[in-house]
Amino acid sequence: MTEPIVRYNNVSKSFGDLEVLKGIDFEIYPGEKVALIGPSGSGKTTFARLLMTLEEITKGTITVHGENLWHEKGKDGELVPASEEHLRKVRSHIGMVFQHFHLFPHMTVLENVTEAPITVNGMDKAEAEKEGKAMLDKVGLLEKADTYPAQLSGGQKQRVAIARALVMKPEVMIFDEPTSALDPELVGEVLEVIKDIAEEGNMAMLLITHEMDFAMEIADRVAFFEEGHIREQGAPEELLNNPETPRLKEFLSRFNATNIE
Ligand SMILES: Nc1ncnc2c1ncn2[C@@H]1O[C@H](COP(=O)(O)OP(=O)(O)OP(=O)(O)O)[C@@H](O)[C@H]1O
Ligand SMILES: [Mg+2]
Repeated sequence: MTEPIVRYNNVSKSFGDLEVLKGIDFEIYPGEKVALIGPSGSGKTTFARLLMTLEEITKGTITVHGENLWHEKGKDGELVPASEEHLRKVRSHIGMVFQHFHLFPHMTVLENVTEAPITVNGMDKAEAEKEGKAMLDKVGLLEKADTYPAQLSGGQKQRVAIARALVMKPEVMIFDEPTSALDPELVGEVLEVIKDIAEEGNMAMLLITHEMDFAMEIADRVAFFEEGHIREQGAPEELLNNPETPRLKEFLSRFNATNIE
């Protein structure tokens, strides 16, 4: 049996008194494309940020290749809070693309893409530039290598952000609503790039999206978040055509996608 790359075990997360994730179990398998859908505020971003170690877990564990994300084994085999080095190592398997790009404005497009390979992985500059250019080519922006983010459209900025995440060769790539900050006419070019990457196959993807048709097209599995729980998950056509919970039925009725082949 294939082992999952990522495993959430009974994971809860609170901000003060507000519990936003409530005992979630979840796995991501190699190469799998999983879409997360659900109403605003249901915990999707928080769920992803925990895996990226951008938020600390309140209860439960997340493991990546069997290694605990937030703890490591101490001298006597007991679990101790993870060192920065441990966090960096475990996190290196995961990449993330955010809604609002987060490019460095004072760096060129190519410098944005090569920054992490050089400073985090210690890659030499020439090698990083070669890899960076290959990734820019993949997202169709090689000719923009020497320009600055301010000179790009929103769709181009997001494609640079995708190249920047890809260059680290993560095994799992998280996309958190990658098109929701874009003007409608720019959405298509970004979805096209994500679809190309999905079709290459090897990298697992966790796609948080309100683009329901797109999620259904590329996902192997869809998980429906609601009030900090995963209420239902399954194959896209199953979930869409036969939602079990009234909440999912209601959620889907807001999209015009109740019937797909
Ligand atoms: N840093 C924080 N401090 C306090 N509360 C937070 C913080 N981050 C998120 N929350 C709260 O946690 C809940 C879940 O938020 P989250 O951003 O995970 O939802 P979401 O499903 O991604 O929503 P959306 O679809 O709008 O992006 C919300 O009630 C939100 O206000
Ligand atoms: Mg969100």
